[in-house]
Amino acid sequence: MSDVKHAHNLAYDVELIRADFPLLHTSVHGKPLVYLDNANTTQKPRKVIDALMEYYTTYNSNIHRASYSIAERSTHEFEQGRAKVKGFLNARGVEEIIFVRNATEGINLVAQSYGRTNVGEGDEIIISAMEHHANIVPWQMLCEEKGAVLKVIPVNDDGELLMEEYEKMLSERTKLVGIVHMSNALGTVNPVEEIIRLAHAHGVPVLVDGAQSAYHKVIDVQKMDCDFFVFSGHKLYGPTGIGVLYGKRELLEQMPPWMGGGDMIASVTFEKTIYNELPNKFEAGTPHIAGSIGLGAAIDYLNGVGMDRIAAYEHELMEYGKQVLTAVPGLRMIGTAKEKASVFSFVIKDIHALDLGTLLDTQGIAIRTGQHCAHPVMKRFGVEATGRASLACYNTKEEIDALARGLVRVSEILG
Ligand code: ALA
Repeated sequence: MSDVKHAHNLAYDVELIRADFPLLHTSVHGKPLVYLDNANTTQKPRKVIDALMEYYTTYNSNIHRASYSIAERSTHEFEQGRAKVKGFLNARGVEEIIFVRNATEGINLVAQSYGRTNVGEGDEIIISAMEHHANIVPWQMLCEEKGAVLKVIPVNDDGELLMEEYEKMLSERTKLVGIVHMSNALGTVNPVEEIIRLAHAHGVPVLVDGAQSAYHKVIDVQKMDCDFFVFSGHKLYGPTGIGVLYGKRELLEQMPPWMGGGDMIASVTFEKTIYNELPNKFEAGTPHIAGSIGLGAAIDYLNGVGMDRIAAYEHELMEYGKQVLTAVPGLRMIGTAKEKASVFSFVIKDIHALDLGTLLDTQGIAIRTGQHCAHPVMKRFGVEATGRASLACYNTKEEIDALARGLVRVSEILG
């Protein structure tokens, strides 16, 4: 599977990786683009772009519904995408891989299907203080409907979960734990295996929001023993509009479908509908066929480079970035957890994050500014908004240096 160019026995060559990503060679305001908004979305390797182009130009057709050649090919390639996701996550079977639009939709599916069936009045759902809105609002909506209670694990000043508080929260009323694997706002990597072990000791299933972790770390859902895991394809170097819900087969089998329509049925009469088997039971309507194909190509690409090598390289970059960025006068890092990956969230003096982002853009540097769809965690750290630089497999130390220089300049102009 390894790409000869990126053979695993060779040193990690970031310039070779960069050559695979056409957009990285763009200029912005006459400066080479320094793309540091990967937690928002990552750029796409040529392999993904080519796979999408090939689908649309040579075998575009609907899946599971026709017996002519190009439709057989699109069905095959679409299901190959699912098989690649199964391998990437180390799931037990392809029936455990449900295609959705994104991590958000995966969480909503679990809240609406598992949640509405299993959560009642007075029951409790546990999340944490560092969740993205996608892992807060669906549970709030469910709690509101059912009269259930949302409990929130607090974090310390470094942005680490207070595990002893979590342990105290678990009780016979707890019906589900929803926890982010890696925080998009702080970079904290949570001890999900321990969180799951403690929840399971109370018979409580755990959903892990892997939107940020899936493209930085090797994910093994069997080893992690999570009950549900969600991620978005577009952060994993794949297309937008495709995401994945992994669920343990025995749970998915018990859950009712969330949406009704074509493909999720075995038979329909006006008296009764028999639902399809997994995974189709949860995939009503024509899915994002190109999305599965593109995501499969992204996974092939990542396997070719090696997720373990990417994780090691990004770790080195992050350690470098910590030193360089904390030396910027007046910079305060938000999120200083010991276990942290690929995200630098910061404020500088009292410069507004939006001004920071706009001025960096004039230097060709793209970061995200704002509240990162995580209002509660911003509040917890007493900040309105932060600037956030986030790394991917193709970033370099030179780009971090460029960011640091840019921040010093902005700070001199506005500080
Ligand atoms: N797109 C969101 C972010 O930028 C998740 O953090």
